[in-house]
Order: sequence, then C-alpha cells, then structure tokens
Amino acid sequence: MQTWRIDAPGQTLVLASDGGVPSALYWGAALPGGQDLTEIGLIAARDVTGGMIDRLPDVSLCPEAGQSFQGQAGLVAYRDGQPLYPRFALVGVDGSQFVCRDAALGLSITFDFAVEGDVIAASTTLEADSEITVHHLAAPVMPGPQYGADILDFSGRWIGEFQLERAPWRAGVHMREARGGRSGHEHPPIAYFPESGAQNTSGAVFAMHYGWSGGHVMYAEELSDGRRQIQWGHATGTRVSGRVFETAKLYLAVSEMGLNGCATAFQRHLRDQVVTWPHPDRPRPVHYNCWEAVYFDHGVEVLKDIADQAVKLGAERFVLDDGWFGKRDDDTSSLGDWDVDPRKWPDGLTPIIEHVKSLGMVFGLWFEPEMVNMDSDLARAHPEWILGPVDQVEGRQQRVLDVANPEVRDHLYRKIAAILASHDIDYIKWDHNRLLPVASVAQTSGVYALLGRLRRDFPNVEVESCASGGGRIDAGILEHTQRIWLSDSNDAQERLRIQHDAALMLPMTITGSHVGPRQCHTSGRVHDIRFRSWVAAQRHMGFEMDPRELTEEEAVVLSQVTAWWKGNRNWRQTADILRLDTADSSVIAEQQLSQDKKRFVVFVGKASTGTQIMPRPLRLTGLEPGATYEIELINRDEAHHLSRRETPLKDGPVTLSGQLLMQHGLILPWSFPDRMWVIEGKKK
Ligand code: DGJ
Repeated sequence: MQTWRIDAPGQTLVLASDGGVPSALYWGAALPGGQDLTEIGLIAARDVTGGMIDRLPDVSLCPEAGQSFQGQAGLVAYRDGQPLYPRFALVGVDGSQFVCRDAALGLSITFDFAVEGDVIAASTTLEADSEITVHHLAAPVMPGPQYGADILDFSGRWIGEFQLERAPWRAGVHMREARGGRSGHEHPPIAYFPESGAQNTSGAVFAMHYGWSGGHVMYAEELSDGRRQIQWGHATGTRVSGRVFETAKLYLAVSEMGLNGCATAFQRHLRDQVVTWPHPDRPRPVHYNCWEAVYFDHGVEVLKDIADQAVKLGAERFVLDDGWFGKRDDDTSSLGDWDVDPRKWPDGLTPIIEHVKSLGMVFGLWFEPEMVNMDSDLARAHPEWILGPVDQVEGRQQRVLDVANPEVRDHLYRKIAAILASHDIDYIKWDHNRLLPVASVAQTSGVYALLGRLRRDFPNVEVESCASGGGRIDAGILEHTQRIWLSDSNDAQERLRIQHDAALMLPMTITGSHVGPRQCHTSGRVHDIRFRSWVAAQRHMGFEMDPRELTEEEAVVLSQVTAWWKGNRNWRQTADILRLDTADSSVIAEQQLSQDKKRFVVFVGKASTGTQIMPRPLRLTGLEPGATYEIELINRDEAHHLSRRETPLKDGPVTLSGQLLMQHGLILPWSFPDRMWVIEGKKK
C-alpha cells in the first residue's frame, strides 16, 4: 500500500492506495511529523462477517459502484444511455495530484489537493475519451467522523439567511441540494460535522465548504457497516454531455477548539486567499446605500441632500442602488437597459458623482446584469437571449439572460464597461434576484467569465455579491467579488443572529451590515439607534436609511459608533470572529480577537428577554490564561436606570487574568432586550 500525507495548519490528510483510487485513511487533527503512515494502513484495515460481500469496498476519493460499493457512488455517468461502472487504477502521482484511469472505459479521473492558508482545497476532474453524460461527480470524498452524532448545516430564506440546522447521523443519506442555479438562501454550501459535545469553543469539529455559485449537492451517508462518507458536487442535472468535467474546490477544515477553529479557518481563507482586494491598503470605507431611503424615486437634489447628511454621519462611500437606468420606476421593467434614465438624471450621473466626490466620498452603482424584464428594450430586441421556456413562471417579474452565450456576455460587458469607463465608479453592487428557470454549469461559468473580464479591465472597482440579500455566498463568487450583502434584513435583532451564524464562514471585512430605518422595512420593528448601530458595527459598516429621519440624538449616537468603527477597523479587518458559548439563551455573543491576540472586542447582543432575572457570566475565549487584560465596557453609558447596582464594569476598566475571563467569565449589567454591550480588552 502506498501512502501520502497532506498537512495544513491544524489538520492532516493521509491518503493511501493499493493500486486503485486512493482513500482518505485519516482526516483529522494534525498528526506528529514522525507518524509512520504504514501504521495508519494497519489500523484502518477492517474485518468482514456473514451477510457481507467478502471484501469491504473502499470509501475512496471516488467510491465506485464497479467495486460493489453499495452507497452513493462518487461518479454517476452514462455513455450512449448505458451506465458506466469504472474501476480505476492509480496511474500517476505528482505531488498532491493523483491520476487514475479505466482504460477499458476510456475514463481518467484526477484528484487535486492544495493547501490554501488554513484549509485544504480538493477537487476532481474527469476526462473521457468520447462523449459521456455525467449526473454526479463528487469532489474528493471524505470520511465522516465516527464520533459525531449530528450534522450541522444551514437552511435559509430571503431576510432569514444562515439558519443553523442540526440533523442526526443515521442509517442512509442526509442530502442537501441547491437546485435553483445559485448557491442559494435555502441550502448554503457549507456544513459542519462536530464530534459529540463540541461547542463553539471546545471539541473536535470537521467542516466543509463547496466553492461554487451554481447549485450543489451534499450527501452525508452512513453505510450499513458503520462507515460514513461525505460527498459534495455540482447540483444534479446541471451539466451537459461532454468529455471534461470538473468539480469546484471543496475546502476542508478541522478543529480541536470547537466550531471556532473551522470558522476562523474559513474566515481567514476567504479573506486572505480567495478575495483579491482592489485597494489592499485602503481601510474599508463606511457605506451609505440609498435603497431604503428612496427606492426607485431618484432625484438629483434629494440625493445630494442625502449625501450631505450621510457624510456628516461618517459615510465614505455613497451607493446609488436600483432605479437609475431605463425607465425603472418599479421592479416590473427595464432590467437589461443599462443606460442612464434621462428623466431622472437629465445631466447623467456625473452631477451626483461629482457632488459625492466633493464631499470626500467614493461612488458606487447597482447593476443586476444577468437579469432582464420582458418590458425592456433588450428583451424586445433579443428574445432569443432569454433563458428557459417562453411560458415560464417569472420571479420578481423578471427573467434570466443566457450568460453562457458569449454574445450575451459581450453585450453585457460593453454596457457595464461603458458606464465604468465614463464615470468615476469605485464599487458595483451586483445583484441577482431570482432563481434560474434552468440551472446549468455553463450559466455559472458564464457569470464568472463576465465578472473576470470586468475585474481584469477595471481592477480598481470593488464588487459586492448580492442575490436578494444572501442568495449567492460562496468561495466561487468571492473569487470575483469582495463584499457580500448578507441579508435584505436590516432588522438589528434578525441581523444579530444572521451575522452570528454566518460567521461560521464569513469574516468581518467582507460582510456588509447597514444601519436601517428606525422602523425596519422588512419586519416593522422599531429599534433603538444604539442597537442598530452596534449590530452594523460588528461587520463592514454602512447606513441604509433616509438620514433626514434621524433625530439629533440619533445622529450623534450613529456618528459616535461610526467613529469608533473607524478607529478600530484596521486591526479588526484581520481579526478572527470567535462565537462565544452562552449560558443564557437570550444572549448572542462573539469576540473579535486581533491577529496578535493582544486586543479584542466582545459584542454581547441581548436578542430577547432572559429566562432568569439576571444575566449569567459570559466566558471569553482564545486568551492567554496567565496574561492580564484590561477590560472596559465601552458603552456603559447605555445602562438603563433599572440596572440599579453599581458594579465595577459600570464604573470603568477592570483588570482580570485570561484564566478568569475564560473560566468564570464576565457578568454584565442587566439590560433590556434588543441591546448590545460592547467590551474592549487589551493585554497588559
Ligand atoms: C435586492 C437587494 O438585496 C436590495 O438590497 C436592493 O438592491 C434591491 N434588490 C434593488 O432592487
């Protein structure tokens, strides 16, 4: 048996082959450098008994039905309508690339592994000598942990993204599939596999993320012999016949310090390895987005006035959202007609851009390039460019352009490039507001190609991925974009929860979060400006309300929190977000810890009234037990008079050891629900 090992920070993957497709014999916490790999082969050998076939087929990187593997096969393919049952032989190894071939069937399969920061990236490529049809091709298949009882993955919806789901491992398949042609709100392409008892801050955890925006499938299967396998691939039925098929990269993380170990591996990987920053040395600018202030009702004087207010609050980027093009007075028309609307903008966009620039802000613009309304010049001129059946059901009164068609891509490129070349534009919000009528790999590859071309020609323009909020969040889209519009919910209470769960993947610096209107437009709730401001300040901060509605006091609070955000953004841009375990179910808390671990900020959100009358202690994490830290409740002025007792934290900074902070924890003052305590810590 041949063996190979791949090491990334905190994890080791050991592959082995006895002449066939290699298997992951070990995937887990980092093994010692001197580990004898043949020993792993010895301990991995398994017995058989009655009622089984005489040799256990491997859960290899591509389990083969041709080897009598009874579970989900890693490749399901047909040639001339006949199923293919390859039995691959290993024919070449080059570094961490493994090539296998079934000469009789004329099929080659290659598995690639690469260490990218804290994660291992794994992908599969299948090549056929003559045309085949592929229904399913798995990225390299990994064993599921034997000591875990549950699978943690996500569901979600518009204004309710990243809802954590817990499903038991049990006989058979737990399957998640995004069929709508986007990575989607419904089944985000990420899953955690904790060992029993693991929490945010402790325990062994495995996690995977599939970097593809066009829909994916995950199978987590427990076989009757007790082994477990986890497969990821493109969504079933999204490929056409051909000769070369690739999966996206599957990212692997392992942690011995709870969910946070995998969360921070993904956060760092997306931030430092996947995203390419147009202005790496420029601090993230505070956004102002006019959507919830004016919707489609654009007027240059009103927007100038709004820009004047926004800059006083601390905004550094002004974004003109939907409504500036075609005859776009509502969402029934004009998608596709990417020319400035002369009724609303008689002198074009230059006057507002110049005004915004004169205030010291940069300017951003909204597009939804992949979409078209039937009521548009583009649809009238090119009905053949529209994807799907003529009598399809529309979504948000709109249809999808066939971006796989190079002519369509060229047209979109020319329209967007014309706007970018003739205006001083720093950022694009790239929206995608409906599911596809027909999902296909070619459509997603077309989007990547279009984004890639624009990024190459306009490298200084930042792009935000938005899809009715968080409908397209994955490493694939983040190779071409730099910011995520996580949710259309600007309700601070909802956002607190969404941000917390999305931190299992997303770092602070790419996650947009805006202070919404006093009465939230998507929930009807009214929240205090302090709570709204602090929740937005947890991530890449912005405002998205009519600033003219703010009272003087609200404007002061918002300016102060924004100033705090600016004062801290430099170190926080590279900080880890660590989710805290809370003994109090009404509390959602996180600690952002600087890279050098010398400073941190803890956000303690009170998402509902508590069960017990007083707050329970909150344990911090990731500190040096023997070090001392100065701890300051920086918004102690927000304490309500019903918080009646003087406590040291309400008085000023206190000094405590890391061990006390992590073992006993902090007891915070009593507060109303929908409030946030903010604590800064500095190592002394
Ligand atoms: C959906 C986005 O998520 C919103 O933020 C906004 O840009 C609208 N589309 C505009 O139509």
